[in-house]
Amino acid sequence: MTRLVLDGLSKTYGETAAVRDLSFTAEPGRVTGFLGPNGAGKSTTLRMLLGLVRPDCGSATIDGRAYADLTRPSNTVGAVVDLAGAHPGMTGHRHLRVAAALGGHDPGRIDEVLEQTELTGAAHRRTGTWSTGMRQRLALATALLGDPDALVLDEPTNGLDPAGVHWLRQLLRRRADAGRTVLISSHQLSEVEHSVDDVVVIRGGNAVWSGSVDELRASHGTVEEAFLALTVATGTSR
Ligand SMILES: Nc1ncnc2c1ncn2[C@@H]1O[C@H](COP(=O)(O)OP(=O)(O)OP(=O)(O)O)[C@@H](O)[C@H]1O
Ligand SMILES: [Mg+2]
Repeated sequence: MTRLVLDGLSKTYGETAAVRDLSFTAEPGRVTGFLGPNGAGKSTTLRMLLGLVRPDCGSATIDGRAYADLTRPSNTVGAVVDLAGAHPGMTGHRHLRVAAALGGHDPGRIDEVLEQTELTGAAHRRTGTWSTGMRQRLALATALLGDPDALVLDEPTNGLDPAGVHWLRQLLRRRADAGRTVLISSHQLSEVEHSVDDVVVIRGGNAVWSGSVDELRASHGTVEEAFLALTVATGTSR
């Protein structure tokens, strides 16, 4: 059971306050949706959680430890924060072999994660010939190699077709139902509305709402209206 706790995180780039005093928790057994428009600070926040960006202040912990202090990070948190990963000349299978070696994972996991991400048929083709959706799946397969307790995915539905979005939803649901922790970001509420249990809405670097998706729906009639009211409201945008 892995709890992700973000506490008072702030990050400023030059004049831009990318994230301001942001706190929330992603609980085990729940899919937490981290939602906000472009430039709201989602990626910066997830990068701070994963130790890729140093916060100006605040802390992010994974079961009480900073990512950098985890003994076996890729067995604890699987993350997808960009799609730059695979070399176009490598097959998907080879990419996973290299990643498994680097992470110290059992090579037997490779076929399992290929199956989980429905890439078995394409595994021996070079990734340069793959579609964006397939590369998104490969990034997820790589994150799953260590069978991590928590998944942190930045915009995981990007590049997926409707069937792919449905498939991803089921995969995330199964993991949450098994007591694991899932944190996903999106700027597209409609793609995650039916996948998430809890919602954190970020706008201009500030958390403007957090609670269950049912509470969000109840607050404004529909989740979409709630999201628009929270993120497009006049006044405090930068
Ligand atoms: N390395 C950086 N250097 C300078 N500014 C940055 C850097 N990274 C992010 N920013 C700025 O911080 C703000 C938040 O960016 P971030 O990428 O976290 O937003 P986001 O919510 O992930 O947006 P998107 O939905 O477009 O992915 C933006 O104004 C962005 O321009
Ligand atoms: Mg982003």
